[in-house]
Amino acid sequence: GAAGSAATFTLAGCLGGGGGGSETITIGSDIPYRPFEWETTEGELTGFDVDIAQAVFADELGYEHEFQKTSFDGIIPSLNNGNFRVIMSAMTITEERAEKIDFSDAYFTAYQTVIVLNNSDIAAKEDLKGKTVGVQKGTTGAAAADALKEEFGGDLTIQRYDQVNGAFDALINNQVVAVVNDNTVNAEFVNQSENAKFLEGAGAAEDQGKDAPPYLTLTVEEYGIGFRQDDDDLREEVNGALATIKDNGTYDEIYSKYFSG
Ligand code: ARG
Repeated sequence: GAAGSAATFTLAGCLGGGGGGSETITIGSDIPYRPFEWETTEGELTGFDVDIAQAVFADELGYEHEFQKTSFDGIIPSLNNGNFRVIMSAMTITEERAEKIDFSDAYFTAYQTVIVLNNSDIAAKEDLKGKTVGVQKGTTGAAAADALKEEFGGDLTIQRYDQVNGAFDALINNQVVAVVNDNTVNAEFVNQSENAKFLEGAGAAEDQGKDAPPYLTLTVEEYGIGFRQDDDDLREEVNGALATIKDNGTYDEIYSKYFSG
């Protein structure tokens, strides 16, 4: 009857246009984390994650979406408390995090790396023993520094900053001798400051048979979009949309906008 048709029509509409319509997907993110999420001097939010969010949530799935600034350390409890619907924050998929939230399929490969000032006497990982390094609190960079400290029998001091720019400032001001952080974000800083460089050497990427970047890699990581563990339907929609944009060239277009190499 009429009611049945209407219900069927609504369902078909839902499937066709994604779960979209009037619902706004709020996205928690720690900003700035350039080139993934940062504000231009005109105050416009931009970056790789910002463009992927537009492609996935808006263009593919038909949702309204909006980014919400939040601190990275605490972003998982904040998601689970309902402060926003998903996390897009260059977040690495880890086993520990996957106990508390669910992740989309991976959408980016990253490496933990070490940068030092150009005039530094630190030339290799081993030279960091007894020194002080800077990291962003709660990140896999912080975890990589913890692992290094363990490797050095405890002989490493780790300064933890709320935001990655705090660690970069500390490097410039000689409060730390190195920053441990995601490769592309370190690369952005190296290019902009013209005063810092990557530590070189073979590392995790070579060990794992990856196309190794030309600097030392402490880990190989994959980024995922984070969801509450009861949000399977949205997560599956997002995985579908990620597959579509990887397939149809949209992902590659966004990638080459932010990463030349
Ligand atoms: N990939 C690293 C991690 O998951 C760092 C992410 C920091 N992201 C940010 N937007 N500040 O721990």
